[in-house]
Amino acid sequence: MPSRKEPFRPSNTGSSKRLKIDTMQSIDTLTGLKQVIREQRVSGRRIGLVPTMGNLHSGHLELIKAARLSADWVVCSIFVNPMQFGAGEDLDAYPRTLDADRERLETAGCDCLFHPAASEVYPQGLETQTIVSVPRLGLEHCGRSRPGHFDGVTTVVCKLFNLCQPDLAFFGLKDYQQYLIIQKMVADLQFPLEMIGVETVREADGLAMSSRNSYLTPDQRSQAPALYQTLMQVRTQIEAGNRQYGALEESAKQHLIAAGLTPDYVAICNGDTLLPARPTDSFLAILAAVFLGKTRLIDNIRLTLPD
Ligand code: PAF
Repeated sequence: MPSRKEPFRPSNTGSSKRLKIDTMQSIDTLTGLKQVIREQRVSGRRIGLVPTMGNLHSGHLELIKAARLSADWVVCSIFVNPMQFGAGEDLDAYPRTLDADRERLETAGCDCLFHPAASEVYPQGLETQTIVSVPRLGLEHCGRSRPGHFDGVTTVVCKLFNLCQPDLAFFGLKDYQQYLIIQKMVADLQFPLEMIGVETVREADGLAMSSRNSYLTPDQRSQAPALYQTLMQVRTQIEAGNRQYGALEESAKQHLIAAGLTPDYVAICNGDTLLPARPTDSFLAILAAVFLGKTRLIDNIRLTLPD
C-alpha cells in the first residue's frame, strides 16, 4: 500500500502560484488532446490532471486550485463516464452544465478543458472494452451497492492517465474509497505520477459538496446534513474510547433513520485497507452512504487515534 500523505486542505486564503495570462483551451477530440499534451511534454512543464464528470462546484474548484499550486499546466477533464453507472442509475439525469463549467474553469485558472464525447473515449462501445479492475477494495462498501462501478472508474481513469500523461493527478477525498482504489491502480500499474487527495469541501451546515445535491428537494436538503452530523458523532464516541465498532455502526444507522435518511451502509474501517476496523487500528475511516428518496449521498471522516 502506498504511504499515506496529508491531504491538500482547501483554504479561502491561498492564492495560486502563477499568473494566468492565456485563455483556456477547450478540446473534445483525442487528436487535439494528444497534440497539446505533446507540446507540454516537450516544453518540460509539469502536467496536473483534474478528472471530473462536470457540474462543477466549489469542491472541484479546490482541486483546480491545488493543481495550479503544484503543476505548471492544468488540464481538467469533464466526462460523464457511462461505464461507471449501473442499470437504473442516474446516467441520463446526471447534470450536464458544460457552458457554466467552462466559465468556472476559466475563472479558476485552468489551462485546458478536455470534454470528449463517449464515442471518443469508447470508440468500440462498452461491450468489448478492456476492463481495469482493482480486486477486493472495489467490492465492499459502495462497490457492494454499485456492482461494476469502480471497474468503470478505474478503466476511465486509466485511459485519462494514458491520454493526459499527468505528473500529478488530483482527486477529492469525499470519494475516499475511489481515491484508495485509484491509488492502488497507480501503484500496481506503475503509473509515473503522484496522486494528491484534496479534502472535502462542505456547505455551511456540513453537507459535503456533491453534484448530486442538486437532486434534493428542499425537505431532503434540510435532512441531508444529518449524514455528516452522524459521522461526527461516531467520531466523538471513538475519540472518547469506544471500540465497540459494530454497535457504533448500528446506532449510527438508527440515528440516520430517525433523521429521515435511509442508510445504505455505515462502516468503521481501517483507513488504509477499508477492512473492518480492529480495536488496535489507529488510522480509521468512517464511511457512510444514504438514500434520500432516489438520491444516494456518500461521505466519510478519517481520523488518527493517539497510540
Ligand atoms: O469522481 C468522479 O467524478 C469520477 O468518478 C471520475 C474520477 C472523474 C471518473 O469518472
